[in-house]
Amino acid sequence: MTVRIEHLVTSGTFSLDGGTWDVDNNVWIIGDDHEVIVIDAAHDADAIAEAVGDRRLTAIVCTHAHNDHIDAAPALAARTGGPVLLHPDDLPLWKQTHPERAPDAELADGQVLTVAGIELTVLHTPGHAPGAVCLYAPALSALFSGDTLFAGGPGATGRSYSHFPTIIESIRERLLSLPEGTVVHTGHGDTTTIGAEAPHLQDWIDRGH
Ligand SMILES: [Fe+2]
Repeated sequence: MTVRIEHLVTSGTFSLDGGTWDVDNNVWIIGDDHEVIVIDAAHDADAIAEAVGDRRLTAIVCTHAHNDHIDAAPALAARTGGPVLLHPDDLPLWKQTHPERAPDAELADGQVLTVAGIELTVLHTPGHAPGAVCLYAPALSALFSGDTLFAGGPGATGRSYSHFPTIIESIRERLLSLPEGTVVHTGHGDTTTIGAEAPHLQDWIDRGH
């Protein structure tokens, strides 16, 4: 199989509710020598465009619209012609960062994106953000989880637009039902697997985050 998962880490800030924090984001590139999709155009359009190279960028998928995951999306789209895709429930967050530029198309639960012959299914997983999505690629045994599931637990739900019971429901119903060996490529930090995280669901519920 020539399809591969590439990855870069970009640095910048996350701002919400009047606070700003330094963050490192994972940017995922899935495809082959000819075409790719980018998941989360974070912070640095130049670095992402360089990683894409002369390959066709068929979509810039936003796992959610926190500014650290979308701040470079319009610039990357302008450079490459790739359309920006976002679940519509995150448009209010998107407009806080990019009031002048709407996404190009909507993501919907169950939608299938295809790149280099590989299918990625959109899973709507609200909780960290109302329009948060994960992308599941069965042929790669890969899940791209954004900020919904990390190594060690759920994404943060302490700020506006977030809801802890909702993220738990999303993780329980949509993610922990995937095969145990599925590799979880997260929005920040380390990769994990469904099988490594699944036994801890009750611990997360008990601790409340
Ligand atoms: Fe986030």
